[in-house]
Amino acid sequence: MGKVMITETILRDAHQSQAATRMRTEDMLPACDVLDKVGYYSLECWGGATFDSCLRFLNEDPWERLRKLKAALPNTKLQMLFRGQNILGYRHYADDVVDEFVRLSIKNGIDVIRIFDALNDPRNLEACIKATKKYGGICEVALSYTISPVHTEEYFVELALKLEKMGADNICIKDMANLLLPYDAYSLVKKLKQALRPTTLVHLHTHNTTGTGDMVNLKAIEAGVDIVDCALSPMGNGTSQPATESLVATLRGTEYDTGIDLNLLTQATDHFRGVAQKLTEQGILDPKVLKVDVNTLKYQVPGGMLSNLINQLKQAGKSDKLYEVLAEVPRVRKDFGYPPLVTPTSQIVGTQAVMNVITGERYKMNPKESQGLMAGEYGTLPAPVNEEVRKKIIGDRKVITCRPVDDPHYGAKHLDEFRKEIGQYYTQEEDVLSYALFPQVAEKFFIARQASQLKLDNSVRDEKNNAMPI
Ligand code: CO
Repeated sequence: MGKVMITETILRDAHQSQAATRMRTEDMLPACDVLDKVGYYSLECWGGATFDSCLRFLNEDPWERLRKLKAALPNTKLQMLFRGQNILGYRHYADDVVDEFVRLSIKNGIDVIRIFDALNDPRNLEACIKATKKYGGICEVALSYTISPVHTEEYFVELALKLEKMGADNICIKDMANLLLPYDAYSLVKKLKQALRPTTLVHLHTHNTTGTGDMVNLKAIEAGVDIVDCALSPMGNGTSQPATESLVATLRGTEYDTGIDLNLLTQATDHFRGVAQKLTEQGILDPKVLKVDVNTLKYQVPGGMLSNLINQLKQAGKSDKLYEVLAEVPRVRKDFGYPPLVTPTSQIVGTQAVMNVITGERYKMNPKESQGLMAGEYGTLPAPVNEEVRKKIIGDRKVITCRPVDDPHYGAKHLDEFRKEIGQYYTQEEDVLSYALFPQVAEKFFIARQASQLKLDNSVRDEKNNAMPI
């Protein structure tokens, strides 16, 4: 068994999971010199919610962040998280938009692209896989892990083989909800390693929400996993990844030794402790995220989804119905063909369960998103749906069986349409994609950018004028 490699997530998932994705570029750069010396497999630093958060809350250009990180981390592979046909947004985009996004991500510094789809529908992964290969990126495709009668080990192994055939260099087990238990991880990794080519790396991504994360990683390592995700301790554990330092120390001197120097990690830790402190003082990082949450173990409902359910019931003045809703969730999930519970399906299933309980009649009220899911707008559901329920929700509406983005009614715009729409705000080719994903948010950002550029130009002109001999 060879050395175990680590992907560091402190610059992406760690602060997305613990601090609403609010870490700024200026909080990242001072640590890059040290991070670049550690010898990680990769550093996850882009994609997921970071793109949206940069534009929406931090008034930062996400592309500029990527270029700065690339310059500061010349020796480390940079990794991003990519939502298949959804790119980094919440709807399906046309293939030329996906292709362009991949091209510019790699051009600006991304080396490894981790691609996933909430429903594990390979058709939603295909365009992104193709583009990643075309532009020379490392293509890591994820299995969105969940538990259901159809999501057996055989299901995941078969899916992994299919994705390997489609071009995946690495296969990731993406346990976003921390549902994967240590011995199941051992068994699944063993089976994947046996089935896949020896050159295909298996990468595990879990969280420590339920307190099992370190054990999941360790059992996966014993089963031969190649890479695991960890986050430096100032933002490790809890809803984030298990801490990097703990795993490095655990494996030291064993056949799995990561070869990583703990002293180097300590220097990076010192820096991020300060960042975490600042985010805590700003009220963004709540120490509550560090507590072990056993509800996921009990109800198989991800932590974030549970707090949404509690909020929805509170707003409806029906807080006493929580346990009825928790019992309804698995029934709705079954009726809907067992989607993995991850954005956006966790919200769809959760809201439907709440409505089924508070109206007193199942599927009397059906949100637009439930209709979309049942009509095939998100892709093929993992198992056959309850046809009676489908009829009640969408009536005689035709179910989309082709790839959602190929349906003429879906109305996915092409790149040149976005290019036309962006008009005067265009300063770089990357702007078209920021606009395509988040039109209103990007426009607001562009206006602010123009205003600050104007201010800058004026002050330069004033300086010049002042310098002129009178
Ligand atoms: Co995650």
